[in-house]
Amino acid sequence: MPLNPPLPPWEECRVWVIGASTGIGAATARALLAAGAHVALSSRNAELLRRVASGSDRALIEPLDYTDSAQVAAAWERLRSVWTSVDLVLIAAGTHTEMRAWELDEARAMALLRTNFHGVIGTVATVLPALLAQGHGAIGILSSVAGYRGLPRALIYGASKAALINFCEALYLDLNPKGIGVYLVNPGFVKTPLTDRNEFRMPHLISAEQAAVEILAGLRSGVFEIHFPRAFTCQLKLLRILPYRWYFALIRRFTGL
Ligand SMILES: NC(=O)c1ccc[n+]([C@@H]2O[C@H](COP(=O)([O-])OP(=O)(O)OC[C@H]3O[C@@H](n4cnc5c(N)ncnc54)[C@H](OP(=O)(O)O)[C@@H]3O)[C@@H](O)[C@H]2O)c1
Repeated sequence: MPLNPPLPPWEECRVWVIGASTGIGAATARALLAAGAHVALSSRNAELLRRVASGSDRALIEPLDYTDSAQVAAAWERLRSVWTSVDLVLIAAGTHTEMRAWELDEARAMALLRTNFHGVIGTVATVLPALLAQGHGAIGILSSVAGYRGLPRALIYGASKAALINFCEALYLDLNPKGIGVYLVNPGFVKTPLTDRNEFRMPHLISAEQAAVEILAGLRSGVFEIHFPRAFTCQLKLLRILPYRWYFALIRRFTGL
């Protein structure tokens, strides 16, 4: 029994992808368009969004900074006036700033939380009243396996993703009885402009196109948590239940940090 209500067939589906200019969001927007969905593409870079849409007459371009609630609200109003109802709001925007404990800097930490956490909360707060009023639709949020447990280098990034996981769980409990779907997307390592900055070896690295295939399949199956690649994420799920003494020792050994 799927945990979420079914989405309409892709040809009838209207999806707003926020963070659609590069990486996982761009690949997912392309895959949705290829599957026949109507897709609105948002991020700050209008030119890149147009390239991702590549002239499709089922694509709408809505450039915005999603940490600015007024911009999100204005784009949401425009989308609803064109589409009348929306089936899925997929929030794939986010960023990463590597930080270790001795590098903790309040301004950098708050900027990261603003992008990775506050932007998501503000966007959900903007779209939720209309989804509840229409009585159907779903919200999908890109978190990360880095939110499962504390990791070195991910001092604030991991905390932002852990917060999103908890937020999605609470959203699900409240929204499922009201017929609104909630999808938590937890990727492992995906090759994108974000991870191109990493200098360490990334185990089980997959392409953004592979990530998009996993996301579409997960959305279609109605699961709550879409996590991939499984060979990696299942190991991390196991680490999640270990006592701290074993967890800390294993992470030190695997990362050398
Ligand atoms: N790549 C991985 O291995 C991996 C693993 C786990 C989780 N994730 C998560 O997956 C999501 C996508 O990551 P990615 O790897 O695809 O990164 P990416 O290629 O850097 O894409 C990030 C997207 O977010 C948009 N964005 C950033 N700040 C924004 C803002 N203020 N307003 C609107 N859009 C904004 C960017 O567009 P503009 O710059 O045009 O605004 C871009 O479209 C992130 O939440 C990331 O944490 C990634």
